[in-house]
Amino acid sequence: MIEFDVKLADQRKPAGEREALLADPGFGQLFTEHMVTIEWTKGEGWHDARLRPYGPLALDPATKVFHYAQELFEGLKAYRQPDGSIVSFRPYANAARFNISCDRMAMPRLPEETFVQALELLVDADRDWVPTREGHSLYLRPFIIATETGMGVNAPSARYLFCVIASPSAAYFSGAIKPVSVWLSTEYTRAAPGGTGFAKCGGNYAAAFVAQQQAVEEGCDQVVWLDAAEHRWVEEMGGMNLFFVYGSGAEARLVTPPLTGTLLPGITRDSLLKLAPDLGIPVSEEKISVEQWRDDVASGALTEAFACGTAAVITPVGRVKGASGEFVIGGGAMGATTARLREELVGIQYGDKPDPHAWITKL
Ligand code: PLP
Ligand code: COI
Repeated sequence: MIEFDVKLADQRKPAGEREALLADPGFGQLFTEHMVTIEWTKGEGWHDARLRPYGPLALDPATKVFHYAQELFEGLKAYRQPDGSIVSFRPYANAARFNISCDRMAMPRLPEETFVQALELLVDADRDWVPTREGHSLYLRPFIIATETGMGVNAPSARYLFCVIASPSAAYFSGAIKPVSVWLSTEYTRAAPGGTGFAKCGGNYAAAFVAQQQAVEEGCDQVVWLDAAEHRWVEEMGGMNLFFVYGSGAEARLVTPPLTGTLLPGITRDSLLKLAPDLGIPVSEEKISVEQWRDDVASGALTEAFACGTAAVITPVGRVKGASGEFVIGGGAMGATTARLREELVGIQYGDKPDPHAWITKL
């Protein structure tokens, strides 16, 4: 266990003001009163672990992260339970993925216990900011940046800052759970074999904004990424993995694209691959092409599609548009299998359903 230096904010927001902010927090707009920082220096390792008041970071303009984007992040949530306690969902899975991303970005690994300890400390300091409203949660954003100054690119940074901030949040997609529309991106590629697709590095998202902008110009909510070589195989969405439902009722089965190295191994994706069989819904990881998606919807074999991720939870996909046309899935409403999986997952996260896989960790 690393020793943290703790300095709490001198002044806390009055309860009334905090409650007013929590009434309509949006997603990732509002931040709590503290943050965690830990530094790493080559030859010394991790040091200066601190819990301190939330505030700006002072960095030299020549800091490597500004120039070469040596940065990566994680995203997970803290959930208020019916008895008022606070838990998170599979935080060690996020810690493990964080380290896999670190390996790819030539950044130092952080011990998993330290990652979780940092979350615990921050949530404990800002407990009052964990929402109690239905569907709201405290979104936790651990990240690491290269803090060495200098323009050389011969070696990765010799200094890093790990930081965790927390954001009380409502649903990622505003309004009721209505299906989203998606744009099949053929002009741009998110990730190619050997690249950083499986890592949660900021650069993947920086390069994605132009395609997301195009999706919006095309009248869609989100971009769907296809493989880099053929622009044909469905991979994932801007910030979510994708699932397809074949059949319905007792015959329903789930299909999701396999982890080829070019898509993010979502923790929600992994959880659904384990949860669905518990509900008697078979799962398989299979490549699916855009043509198959369209044809299987047309034949009635593919009945539902949904996006899943920490921020998006489970969100139905209702309309798919690409350069050569568009089609609608499930009449634009959330399908029964999607709804069932969503209810089960959310039930575990909010403590309303049993947790057979021991995914819940008290914070
Ligand atoms: N794919 C991308 C590109 C993402 O940014 C995310 C969000 O973290 C996901 C998938 C879903 O991952 P998870 O379920 O771990 O949140
Ligand atoms: C998440 O779901 O945690 C994400 O990182 C998605 C998005 C907000 C980038």
